[in-house]
Amino acid sequence: MDRKNTTLGEFIIENQSSFQYSSGELSKLINAIRLAAKVVNHEVNKAGLIDILGAAGDTNIQGEDQQKLDVLANEKFIQTLKNREIVCGIASEEEDDFISVNSNDEKHQNKYVVLIDPLDGSSNIDVNVSVGTIFSIYRRVTPIGTPVTLEDFLQPGVNQVAAGYIVYGTSTMLVYTTGDGVNGFTLNPAIGTFYLSHPRMQFPETGKIYSVNEGNYIHFPQGVKNYIKYCQLEEGDRPYTSRYIGSLVSDFHRNMIKGGIYIYPKSSVAMEGKLRLLYECNPMAFLAEQAQGKASDGFKRIMEIQPTELHQRVPFFCGSRKMVEKAEEFMAAQK
Ligand code: AHG
Ligand code: MN
Ligand code: MN
Ligand code: MN
Repeated sequence: MDRKNTTLGEFIIENQSSFQYSSGELSKLINAIRLAAKVVNHEVNKAGLIDILGAAGDTNIQGEDQQKLDVLANEKFIQTLKNREIVCGIASEEEDDFISVNSNDEKHQNKYVVLIDPLDGSSNIDVNVSVGTIFSIYRRVTPIGTPVTLEDFLQPGVNQVAAGYIVYGTSTMLVYTTGDGVNGFTLNPAIGTFYLSHPRMQFPETGKIYSVNEGNYIHFPQGVKNYIKYCQLEEGDRPYTSRYIGSLVSDFHRNMIKGGIYIYPKSSVAMEGKLRLLYECNPMAFLAEQAQGKASDGFKRIMEIQPTELHQRVPFFCGSRKMVEKAEEFMAAQK
């Protein structure tokens, strides 16, 4: 079959047997995410025409001002997942606590929990720059038939069964993994169908792009400062190019295609960094590793961190393997 003509729906069915647990439940769940992605895409696309730009007037649990699209995307994803009764629990950046989902007929019969960053890159919403959605899926660890508990969500990233993102960019793409490589699908907006456009995505082993918010340079640990200076030095294939969109999804997506490193370190003003382990760093780390890249907190593998809180933050170094390893060398030298 011409892979370019494969739709996401077909791909999910074709690959169902390769899932670790192939009951069809995970396929249904990814299908629900596909549907929610289309709905949110529609809202994002017309955001400038109707009154959904700007702040919603509330702050979320992390003290960030919620944007109207943060709230809307959160509602759409949660609604879609709840209505289909295919998950037993949902955790979201925009919800203080996790949500326990009860099916109508039989209680708590579903196996999977989903963690989402419904709208990533909030600061780019009002200026028509790419934003995204990130999702991470685990099998619950508590018994089926009982309500989910925090334990079901506080699993290390290595336990993920699937993860992915949607980038609402110049074209809208859904990129995901179920632990057997990374595949990217582009939405044909005329007919509302995602097609396999980027099979087997891989980070180049090394690259020439570094992505970090250098405005915070003064607050960075010395190891990060030294690595940034290394990127800027004229030697070999350096200086590298600096590219920072401020949407993790978009920065990651570009770096996966072109080769690069994304860094959001801890700093003297944000001791744990900014990005959230469960619904930002772990899914991106799973994708990175599945695409031959690497993700660490500067010292150790992101996916091996045992989470202790739902909204836990963690420093994040992610991208082309050799670049992450080089940054880690600089971090270790200053430990
Ligand atoms: P979110 O919009 O989901 O809160 O995430 C924002 C994150 C991430 O997308 C981005 O890379 C980073 O925050 C940007 O932070 P700075 O503006 O501090 O650079
Ligand atoms: Mn936010
Ligand atoms: Mn985010
Ligand atoms: Mn967000």
